Amino acid sequence: MERFPVGEKYLSGATASSLNEARLIFEEMGCKAHTYCVAYLPDEFSEIMRYSSHLVFNSVAQYERFRSAVSVHNANSADTPISCGIRCNPEYSEVETELYNPAAPGSRLGEVDAAFANGLPEGIEGLHFHTLCESTSYDLEKTLAAFEQHFGHLIPKVKWVNMGGGHLMTKKGYDTAHLVRLLQNFKEKWGVDIILEPGSAIAWETGVLISTVLDIHESRGIKTAITDISFTGHMPDTLEMPYRPRITHVAQNGEATPAVTPPIGAGRGGLYRIGGVSCLSGDYMKEYSFEQDLKVGDRIIFEDMIHYTMVKTTTFNGVRHPDICILHENGELEVVKKFGYEDYRNRLS
Ligand SMILES: Cc1ncc(COP(=O)(O)O)c(C=O)c1O
Repeated sequence: MERFPVGEKYLSGATASSLNEARLIFEEMGCKAHTYCVAYLPDEFSEIMRYSSHLVFNSVAQYERFRSAVSVHNANSADTPISCGIRCNPEYSEVETELYNPAAPGSRLGEVDAAFANGLPEGIEGLHFHTLCESTSYDLEKTLAAFEQHFGHLIPKVKWVNMGGGHLMTKKGYDTAHLVRLLQNFKEKWGVDIILEPGSAIAWETGVLISTVLDIHESRGIKTAITDISFTGHMPDTLEMPYRPRITHVAQNGEATPAVTPPIGAGRGGLYRIGGVSCLSGDYMKEYSFEQDLKVGDRIIFEDMIHYTMVKTTTFNGVRHPDICILHENGELEVVKKFGYEDYRNRLS
């Protein structure tokens, strides 16, 4: 894992949701991907098979459409055969925001139990569910109960169960001993291999997004600190969910104070919206309460916003991409990657 030296210490593989991710895993991590796609594109499928050890299908119909291609691939390959699974929807999730809830009514992600009225299609070796998001082991426990209730009759027929991502096992206070007990009990009960796909847990608290205040705008009593980043361009979750990252205000004398979401407390500095630099009207986060007045040149630090920011950015409006940097323990800031005009231009036709 030349490009993933830290991940290599802890992970035995990786999961992909697209051809590009599967290829990245194959080429940069040196292993085959455990691939799940909402829908496989026919013109990509051969290549995806080359990079994958497991393929999870989102529906029985898709599996039926591609199963002969997998059989032909397996018959002609000297490698371990690709193992196929189907994603299930246990129709239970602790996630309240519909945008992030794969078990919401009518969800397009995975099959509900009714889809297996005739049992599992021939050749299926695994079941997959993914309904957690920044969740605890106790959330998993309740999810497993729902999974067993809906799909328990199918588990003895498969070799593996993939319990998806959303297990925030690196967060302070996460009960890892409880997780281990749960998984051991499940394995003992059902005799299957268990696969987990922690995503954000791998990159939890690994980095911040730092912005600079460019202007303080005021309109009929509403103050907005306009920064040099964009919520729509760099942190779409903050508008979509809306996710409220922890933020820290760093004044130019270096004093750092956390800002909070009202009504937890109205700080002495008052309330400010945090504005993005794109021209989208809604490119701002609702008010945070600050201990000190914000001034042009101050920094606003969005805590723990490196992971999804690195993959969800766009170049909408040509907004500048944040640099990717490493702040070394000795205080030295190493710029690993800068994005410029060419990156923006080359995404256009
Ligand atoms: C199928 C699947 N597995 C794993 C993950 C990673 O989830 P997380 O980053 O919440 O751990 C995702 C993220 O959406 C996913 O869709």
